[in-house]
Amino acid sequence: MSNNQQTSDESRSSGIVVSGTRPTGALHLGHLNGALKNWVQLQKTARCFFFVADWHALTTDYAEPGGIAENTRAMILDWLAVGLDPDVSVLFRQSQVPEHAELHLLFSMIIPVPWLERVPSYKEQQDQLQGRDLSTYGFLGYPLLQSADILLYKAARVPVGEDQLPHVELTREVARRFNRFYGPVFPEPTGMVVEAARVPGTDGRKMSKSYGNAVALTDDADAVHTKLVRMVTDPRRQRRSDPGDPKDCPAFRLHEIYCTEQERAEVTQGCRTASIGCVDCKKVMIRRVQDELAPIQERRRELTLRRGITEEVLAEGRKQAAAVAETTMGEVRGAMGLL
Ligand code: TRP
Ligand code: SF4
Repeated sequence: MSNNQQTSDESRSSGIVVSGTRPTGALHLGHLNGALKNWVQLQKTARCFFFVADWHALTTDYAEPGGIAENTRAMILDWLAVGLDPDVSVLFRQSQVPEHAELHLLFSMIIPVPWLERVPSYKEQQDQLQGRDLSTYGFLGYPLLQSADILLYKAARVPVGEDQLPHVELTREVARRFNRFYGPVFPEPTGMVVEAARVPGTDGRKMSKSYGNAVALTDDADAVHTKLVRMVTDPRRQRRSDPGDPKDCPAFRLHEIYCTEQERAEVTQGCRTASIGCVDCKKVMIRRVQDELAPIQERRRELTLRRGITEEVLAEGRKQAAAVAETTMGEVRGAMGLL
């Protein structure tokens, strides 16, 4: 593809943002700080497509798909409660826009299997999720379905966690190969990793529902307190009189997100001189987390009173997503000689 073409392709789709989340359970502070706050900002300046990746959930949870519908509903409520606006962004459910599957199928015709076997998450996830048979066709194709999700909307930018960058890289290669065979249809998207926040869970590992270390967006003030007051700290602070250092303290990562510079300076001094205990230190931060979650939970409560709200939002999102998806598929079918 010539440079010229690339430039015109990029400007045509300038600003389009696409991202998705698998509906695997209650959203937590990791999602909020790692993705959602960023999405809420992005929707102010860019055309955004955010979707519930329910087919992607099936690639690992195919034997027990029971939670998917309810988790999808809960996720939409969480999204609305944190400020994603269905009048501004397109919020939809992947399986309700079957063009994702069609594009995935067509990509599967042209992508060599070793490209997929090489994606690092393929082996990693198989190792991590032992006890499930992940030698399926669909699981191998996981990142190719993701490529279809992204390219269907001609995204310029894809906000994701760092672990997803290889999938965006694959997407660029898929776009290049397609364009080389059939002419320029797809721009190459860029992955955007949010600096802010890799939020540790209460045990210090990455926050994740499956580790049981998460603070959910729906946890009330007491639950937040109970969880965070027990969060692991600098192991050197065995006794109250032992000094520690915030830079070795998982709990302090939350101070970095939630507290003012002044507050951080004060507890840092207190920690290093053992003039403050961990419980008092954490109180400052716990308060902020509670204050952030309270209005989110209030909005969520109001939303749950509006019966059918998630179905309404999804129906509207589906309509808007399908319009774009149909246009792209028209071009794809034409380019591949399918018209
Ligand atoms: N694989 C992503 C995750 O696990 C979810 C996802 C599916 C996605 N399709 C996408 C993210 C398209 C960005 C763009 O987090
Ligand atoms: Fe962490 Fe604060 Fe305890 Fe220091 S005093 S170890 S920063 S919780």
